[in-house]
Amino acid sequence: MNSRKKHEELAKQIRYHDERYYADDAPEISDAAYDKLRRELETLEKENPELADKDSPTQNVGIKPTGGFKKVRHSISMLSLANAFDEQDVAEFFTRIRNFLNLSEGAEVPLFAELKIDGLSCSLRYEKGLLVQAATRGDGEEGEDITQNVRTIKDVPQKLAGKAPDILEVRGEIYMRREDFMALNKKQEAECKPVFANPRNAAAGSVRQLDSAITAARPLRFFGYSLGEASAPIAQSQAGLREALAAFGFQTASPYALCSTVADVMAYYNKVLAERADLPFDIDGVVYKVNDFVQQARLGFVSRAPRWAIAHKFPAEKAITKLNNITIQVGRTGTLTPVAELEPVNVGGVMVSRATLHNEDEIERKDVRVGDFVVIQRAGDVIPQVLSHLPEKRPKDSKKFTFPHVCPVCGSQAVRPEGEVARRCTGGLICEAQALERLRHFVSRNAFDIEGMGEKIIEEFWRDELVRTPADIFTLEKRDKGSLTPVSAREGWGSQSARNLFDAINTRRSITLERFIYALGIRQVGEATAKRLAAHYETIENFLKETSEENLMQIQDIGPSVAADIIAFLGEAHNRDAVQALLAEVTVVPYERKVIDANNPVAGKTVVFTGTLTKMSRAEAKAKAESLGAHVAGSVSKKTDYVVAGEDAGSKLSKAKELGVNVLSEDAWLDLIS
Ligand code: IVH
Repeated sequence: MNSRKKHEELAKQIRYHDERYYADDAPEISDAAYDKLRRELETLEKENPELADKDSPTQNVGIKPTGGFKKVRHSISMLSLANAFDEQDVAEFFTRIRNFLNLSEGAEVPLFAELKIDGLSCSLRYEKGLLVQAATRGDGEEGEDITQNVRTIKDVPQKLAGKAPDILEVRGEIYMRREDFMALNKKQEAECKPVFANPRNAAAGSVRQLDSAITAARPLRFFGYSLGEASAPIAQSQAGLREALAAFGFQTASPYALCSTVADVMAYYNKVLAERADLPFDIDGVVYKVNDFVQQARLGFVSRAPRWAIAHKFPAEKAITKLNNITIQVGRTGTLTPVAELEPVNVGGVMVSRATLHNEDEIERKDVRVGDFVVIQRAGDVIPQVLSHLPEKRPKDSKKFTFPHVCPVCGSQAVRPEGEVARRCTGGLICEAQALERLRHFVSRNAFDIEGMGEKIIEEFWRDELVRTPADIFTLEKRDKGSLTPVSAREGWGSQSARNLFDAINTRRSITLERFIYALGIRQVGEATAKRLAAHYETIENFLKETSEENLMQIQDIGPSVAADIIAFLGEAHNRDAVQALLAEVTVVPYERKVIDANNPVAGKTVVFTGTLTKMSRAEAKAKAESLGAHVAGSVSKKTDYVVAGEDAGSKLSKAKELGVNVLSEDAWLDLIS
């Protein structure tokens, strides 16, 4: 191969892996293998400087698309679905719905069952019947504007057929048929271009092309299955929605079914599972949705997913491969996680070379040893895991694995508190692994979401001591000016890519309180908890000043263990210093309550429900009151504004009378809020 051809080939491979790494968050090769490719390219360019044009990966970092699409805020969040894996989970889903809606045990719940398409979700906005915007899901609140590319998809109407509401957002899945995917890969191969691992990756890669001519040449399709904003109702049920969407000119997936019992949905599930291979596209399960929209609205949402829907996933794909080594990974909060380094193997269309072994006890329980042949499993988007080993294939000289008692990164003691499964490094921020993981978390998508600052770059900047703390990210540009080794002079960078990075950082100087709290990386504080904390404390000042075990425990879903972790975090001087340094650089936007109708008489009031309610369940009553801005408390005090007394109310009712609190019957309450 001549040098030019070799250069082209390498550049293509690097771009492909950049895309897997930065855009899909699903690298297919090890960091070492990637670095080797880059080194090869660099050597080639050193020998043939004429090859190092501005498009070469040596002149760019990351991939363009992440910087290339405009951000779009979704007017209504794009949620995800909770998962069910077996009949038991499905039965519990039915029970939860019945309890919430106060239906009798065994009452039928009409559900709409449909396919769970394995593609990428997209929201299409129509104004006066015309397509004006298409956006990816992103983090659910903010996605990327992919309008130009989506306009090239034939299944997506540019203009809705018939009379549509002024504003209508249709949501659904962009996907690629299996046969189209195979033909595309054949073509890619013939043109010496990288091939895609599966139809989903191919669809995602095609949508994220900066050049919509490339997207147009890709066989993308679209199925509609739900709504975002709509200025007028177009249906009363999921089944009605399916018809309405078809009438507007959308494709909808088949088969679907109307079901009312666990037996019904299981029959649908088994039928689809049996026919799965004959479908022309990939699915990763089925979805059950409460059919009636009025019931859907009553059920509402829990954090990121609707109460009225669930995804029933297909069984995980399994494979057998050799366990080459067990390594230990140190996480953001110091947890030592054993990782199986595997002989790469194809599991349901994806190459897997690493899998989690969870923890010390799991290795012991499964007695997994280096050199063993192991069964691994990959379910949907979760990390592959090792299930068991094959005793008959165990090498004679194999040895039990001994779990380290010191951190493999910083050498500090790794301790395992009584009753916990995790062994944890005690090095705190002196442990490079922890400090680095925290930074990675800090810039990640649902935290500060700093574009162009992927894991690799954070790692490099860390290594070269450009960025050691979160605040360092925001002082980087200032320090860069007049530096003898500016970012733009770094290997793989140029003045444009450095400029892009600083711009991306600067757009994040203002951040919502919930993202800020999440970004701190406090143990056990995920997005949902961060949001609850933000709603409770409202400003960063309050959060830092007023947090106590007592007021933390008043927050829904925060128990003693989470409270202890938050207090421990805020109690450490180096954490407080890091937060203060950061606050000197960024503005934290106070938590914004959803605008609540000022005329509604219960906003801001404290309500206690007691006794048996007959029109709705306690859970629904509480969710409804909260959605109107009321605070629902568990006990009656002088601060209580209303006590809603159902049948057989007891001590709380007496207490309310004693304190002179306003007591309402269930009907009077419903009148008040209607
Ligand atoms: S409904 C609030 N229906 O699955 C309702 N989602 O795991 C949210 N998906 O992000 C989605 N097929 O990308 C729904 N028939 C279907 C679906 C479906 C595929 C995807 C969608 C969503 C993800 C959630």
